[in-house]
Amino acid sequence: MTGTWLHGLEDRARAALPAPVFEYVGQGARESVSTREAPAAWQGLRFAPHVLRDVTDVDPGVDLLGRRSLVPWGIAPTTLQRAVHPDGELAVARATAAAGGVMVVSSNAGTSFAAIGATGVRWWLQAYLPSDRTLAEPMLDRAVAAGAEAVVLTVDTPVVATKYVVGEPVWDTVQDGLLRVNFDPGYDERPGAEKATDLGPHDLDWLAERTGLPVVVKGVLRSDDARRCVDAGASAVWVSNHGGRQLDRARSTATQLPEVVAEVGDDAEVYADGGIRNGLDVLAALALGARGVFLGRPALWALADGEQGVARLHRDLRDEVVEALRLAGCRVPADAPSLLGRDDVPPL
Ligand code: FNR
Repeated sequence: MTGTWLHGLEDRARAALPAPVFEYVGQGARESVSTREAPAAWQGLRFAPHVLRDVTDVDPGVDLLGRRSLVPWGIAPTTLQRAVHPDGELAVARATAAAGGVMVVSSNAGTSFAAIGATGVRWWLQAYLPSDRTLAEPMLDRAVAAGAEAVVLTVDTPVVATKYVVGEPVWDTVQDGLLRVNFDPGYDERPGAEKATDLGPHDLDWLAERTGLPVVVKGVLRSDDARRCVDAGASAVWVSNHGGRQLDRARSTATQLPEVVAEVGDDAEVYADGGIRNGLDVLAALALGARGVFLGRPALWALADGEQGVARLHRDLRDEVVEALRLAGCRVPADAPSLLGRDDVPPL
C-alpha cells in the first residue's frame, strides 16, 4: 500500500496546510507550464527491463561526492519550511539523517545552520549569491562551521520570476524570523544584497576558495553550460528548472538530462530534480544517467505532518525504488542506464 500514501501526499497537504502556504509550495512561474510538465516527462519514458538476473539483494544506495548515501535521492533546498511545520528544517534533517540521505539546506532557511548540523544529518548548503559577494561571506562561514559538506550554487535565479498568486500571498501571512536567519541582521536592507545578475564561472572558484568545499551547480539545463561548470571546477552539475518556478516554459529536466550526462557524465556527478514523485520516476532519472535525484515539493507536503511525515516519505520511496529496481532486473542504481538507449528522450 505504499503507493497509496505517496500518491495522496499532495492532497493531504492541501487539507492540512493554510491555503497561502499550500499555494506557495505548489506554485510555478507564470502559467506553470514547466511545473505541470515535469512529472509527465518522467512518465513518458519506457523501460526495457532485464530478466533472469539475481535481484535478491538490491542496494539502492549511491555515492554522492565521495560518500555513501543509503538512498539515491536527497532533499532539495526549499524556503519557508518553518511555515509548513514549526519544526521546519529540523524535522527534515532528523528524518533524512535516519534515512541515511543528504539534505540540501536553503540559504533562505529559517533555522540556524548550527542547529541543523547538530542533528547529525549530512547536509550541503545551497547559496544564492548577492551582487556584493562579500555580504554572503558570514553566511558561508557559518555553514562551513556547522559542517556543510558541499556548497550548491543556484544559477537559475538572476531575478525571482513572477508568480500569479490567486489567494493571499504567503509573505503577508508568515511571521518574522522564518527567513534568512543565517545572515547578519539587516542583510536584506544592505546595498548589494539583491541577487547577483552577473554570476559567472569565476564565482565557482570564489566559492570553493572561500569555503574549501566541493561546488555543485544547480539549475543547469544545457550541455554547453554543464561543460562550462565542469571546466570551472564544479564537482557536480544539478539539472533543474527550479521546479518550474523560474523561466516558465523551460524544458523539462527529463528532456535535458541525457545531453548533460553525455557531455559531462564522465567528469562530474550529474543530479536531477523536478517532478520526481515516486519510485518509477527515480528509476527513470537513474536510467537517464543521473547519479541521484532531489525532491522539492514532496518533502514539503510530507513535512505538513512533521518529522514523521518526512520519515514516511523516505521509507515509502525506498520501498518503491527497491521494487522498481527489482522489477527492472537491476541490483544497483548503476545498472539502470542499460534500461534505455542514450537517445531515448521523453516527448516533452
Ligand atoms: C524551491 N526551490 C528552491 N531552490 C533553491 O535553490 N533555493 C531555494 O530556496 C528554493 N526554494 C524553493 C521553495 C519551494 C516552495 C519550492 C517548491 C522549490 C527549488 C527546489 O530546490 C527544486 O529545484 C524544485 O522544487 C524541484 O522540483 P519539485 O521536486 O518540487 O517538483
